[in-house]
Amino acid sequence: MLSIKNVSKKYSNNFTALSNFNMELEGGVIGLLGANGAGKSTLMKMIATVSKPSEGVITWNGQDIHKNGDELRHDLGYLPQSFGVFPNLTAVEFLKYMAALKGLNMKKAKNRINELIDLLNLSDAANRSIGNYSGGMRQRIGIAQALLNDPKILIVDEPTIGLDPNERMNFRNLINSLSKDKIIILSTHIVSDVESSAEKIVLMNKGKLICFCKNEELLNSLEGNVWECIAGESELEDIKDKYITGNIIRRNEGMVVRVISENKPASNAVKLKPTLEDAYIYYTSGKRGENIG
Ligand SMILES: Nc1ncnc2c1ncn2[C@@H]1O[C@H](COP(=O)(O)OP(=O)(O)OP(=O)(O)O)[C@@H](O)[C@H]1O
Ligand SMILES: [Mg+2]
Repeated sequence: MLSIKNVSKKYSNNFTALSNFNMELEGGVIGLLGANGAGKSTLMKMIATVSKPSEGVITWNGQDIHKNGDELRHDLGYLPQSFGVFPNLTAVEFLKYMAALKGLNMKKAKNRINELIDLLNLSDAANRSIGNYSGGMRQRIGIAQALLNDPKILIVDEPTIGLDPNERMNFRNLINSLSKDKIIILSTHIVSDVESSAEKIVLMNKGKLICFCKNEELLNSLEGNVWECIAGESELEDIKDKYITGNIIRRNEGMVVRVISENKPASNAVKLKPTLEDAYIYYTSGKRGENIG
């Protein structure tokens, strides 16, 4: 079990990137959602023990990981947001190198490497230098190295960046196939990456935890507050000023705009079922509180 208690992070320039986080994680996929600068990577780095909290404690099976991180590091797989690779090594060479650094049994590691290369669709490129890989292929190598030790806790910071739609789907399926006996913490801006797989969502904004709850709870909190209305150009500006808006699509009948509001935003507005994207937009919007309590 991973426990985060009263954790804050103030960087050396006195900037507070995370304030007073509290969470207990036992298993399954946890999706971290938040805008640029929300503090997702800051939180992940502290859990991965590459950065220390300014206040509070993080424990793994009862051990303070910043006093004794050996057990956590043994159980950890981590894909940092900016992941550097050695361009002259092939995928196989790089994964062998990482396996050696992780202190894995090399005989077992070789089988695992073959398995992962296959799982991440890198077989054709396995013996080519990583320096010649596309961005998405490099990202998949990053995911593979995080899985080398079959980690009990997997932290992946924006793992789907640069992946094409097929590879994103493969990644989601891979995560779903792993999730039973692990804690998987995944950050993303792409709501659909976590919509189907995450058991719990951590929604963050400007270093604050907005909610740590089940997907459904988040959707229920917006039930009855998501609308679609049709507006002319001038009405649209008015709606955008007054309300939190989502997608706006031009159709023959006018501009079709998605609005999140407690009150009916226009006489022609019809209610829609909330999606996780609505929740993300609503809870991370600077306008929140102006229209909905
Ligand atoms: N080393 C640092 N020194 C000072 N401020 C930092 C440092 N690292 C991050 N920050 C600041 O802390 C805040 C949170 O950064 P963080 O990287 O955790 O955000 P994030 O949610 O991961 O964003 P993104 O979606 O862009 O990856 C940002 O305002 C960032 O500028
Ligand atoms: Mg980040």
